[in-house]
Amino acid sequence: MDGSCNHYSISLSSVWLTCFCFCFIFVSAELHRFEHPVKADGSLSFFVIGDWGRKGAYNQSQVALQMGKVGEKLSIDFVVSTGDNFYEKGLASPYDPVFKDSFTKIYTANSLKKQWYSVLGNHDYRGDVQAQLSPILRRIDSRWLCLRSFIVKTEIVEFFFIDTTPFVDQYFQNPKHQKFDWRGVIPRKKYLRRVLKDLRSALRESVANWKIVIGHHPIRSIGHHGETKELIMQLLPILEANNVDMYINGHDHCLEHLSSITSQLQFFTSGGGSKAWKGDFHYLDGDEMKFYYDGQGFMSVELTATDAKIVFHDVFGKVLHSLDLSKQPYTAM
Ligand SMILES: *[C@@H]1O[C@H](CO)[C@@H](O)[C@H](O)[C@H]1NC(C)=O
Repeated sequence: MDGSCNHYSISLSSVWLTCFCFCFIFVSAELHRFEHPVKADGSLSFFVIGDWGRKGAYNQSQVALQMGKVGEKLSIDFVVSTGDNFYEKGLASPYDPVFKDSFTKIYTANSLKKQWYSVLGNHDYRGDVQAQLSPILRRIDSRWLCLRSFIVKTEIVEFFFIDTTPFVDQYFQNPKHQKFDWRGVIPRKKYLRRVLKDLRSALRESVANWKIVIGHHPIRSIGHHGETKELIMQLLPILEANNVDMYINGHDHCLEHLSSITSQLQFFTSGGGSKAWKGDFHYLDGDEMKFYYDGQGFMSVELTATDAKIVFHDVFGKVLHSLDLSKQPYTAM
């Protein structure tokens, strides 16, 4: 913002009016934006994993091995991490060896040597929260990219990454019980208002055929933590009003798919990156419940402008659940 739009001395010819409008659109989009190219045939494929960084333990290495194999087959373009990247307390600093031990030395397959787009989970907020956001990490391993809330735009799909941890009231109610690093979040109300406002305007402006929103906490889930009431109240209405296709999260250490009865929105949990919670779920009967698996694994997504294929894989590379979605190409009004 260099103030070039505030040239009041020049009369408002139509040229300047155009400039005003463009500048306004530009300035109104506050979230960091990244562009990611699609494949030569116009398609895209990527993985989603969550809740993983445990120096290889609890099958983290087995999940990584399968990701490497499936990643080769699908020739994935990037990996999305839904947060809780490093247990138990995020990173202590950008030079914390845990980063290499739980990330660089684990996801070693060639097919995984792609960009990783990550959000923060509640466990990441228990360390030095700014460490994971630091450009120092990108110099240690160039695949790493973690921001609080941001956008990744491609020709066929736009991803909206949302920092969900600050939405959860419980984390602010017992500060002695669990320490969170709230630098950059406090004052909380202002922070949340800003996140929602930026997301709303970015979704409204989006002309992408597919819209996918990613956060750490589930909106809907039958797992251990279950639904996040703050997100049902504050985030869900925005997603439904703007025809978002998928909401993908971690936090519950399982793989899961629910559909919505009120909109096209599909809910996916990919939180099986390492320690899983066997048998820990609330039974839900009905049309919305499509799939639940309480072991480790990951999710793959293959997209074209009109079709999506979503698959959940276990630690042996077995396909646990798969789903095809399709839609008409987006046409601007
Ligand atoms: C690793 O995965 C296998 C297969 O799902 C499972 O039987 C085993 O309990 C897992 N190990 C741990 C430590 O979770």
